[in-house]
Amino acid sequence: MKPPQKPLTLLFFVLSFLTKSSALNEASEALFKWKESLEDSHSLDSWSIKSHDETNPCKWVGITCDSSHSVVEINLPHFNLSGTLDDLDFTSLLNLTALNLNGNFLHGPIPSNISALSKLTLLDLGNNGFIGAIPPEIGRLSELIDLRLYSNFLNHTIPYQLGNLKKVQSQMQLVF
Ligand SMILES: *[C@@H]1O[C@H](CO)[C@@H](O)[C@H](O)[C@H]1NC(C)=O
Ligand SMILES: *[C@@H]1O[C@H](CO)[C@@H](O)[C@H](O)[C@H]1NC(C)=O
Ligand SMILES: *[C@@H]1O[C@H](CO)[C@@H](O)[C@H](O)[C@H]1NC(C)=O
Ligand SMILES: *[C@@H]1O[C@H](CO)[C@@H](O)[C@H](O)[C@H]1NC(C)=O
Repeated sequence: MKPPQKPLTLLFFVLSFLTKSSALNEASEALFKWKESLEDSHSLDSWSIKSHDETNPCKWVGITCDSSHSVVEINLPHFNLSGTLDDLDFTSLLNLTALNLNGNFLHGPIPSNISALSKLTLLDLGNNGFIGAIPPEIGRLSELIDLRLYSNFLNHTIPYQLGNLKKVQSQMQLVF
């Protein structure tokens, strides 16, 4: 007979569920806020927070989660997206390993705070309308293997900090 353990087990279960779902809610709110900021987001109609079931970003188009329900990939190449990255809160997506937005109509600067995504192995912002300097902070993304920024309107000065990206080398396609 061990009834006193039950409430503890239940409490632990509830707590771990709450922790998991709050990280997930944070991710869905961040993604939805970005979607709302876009000038054209027709291809993201499945990104909805209307009902509880739809709020799970793991079920949204272009989003991949891992087994612990953490958003790990955003794959939206050629999705006709138009707008900027200014309203994408990267700090809610810290487990992201891949961000592929190739071939959209995104413009404005590449935010330096993209460097919060320290687990990124793939960053593809190629074929868009990004302007300005390549943020030197991208040099902090030490797990990057594949970095593509080509076909934008970026300043052709490549920050020396990108030399820190030891894993990238053969897969770097920057401004040309
Ligand atoms: C990242 O993954 C860890 C381990 O699975 C998890 O504890 C954490 O809540 C996740 N963070 C986010 C922002 O999803
Ligand atoms: C993008 O727009 C084109 C032309 O309107 C359309 O054919 C295509 O299906 C759209 N792509 C997505 C992912 O919605
Ligand atoms: C990220 O930086 C951009 C400007 O570089 C800023 O507009 C935006 O508010 C920042 N976002 C967050 C979440 O800090
Ligand atoms: C490109 O960036 C470098 C370093 O930030 C700066 O010195 C230069 O003036 C910029 N060039 C243009 C055309 O914006």
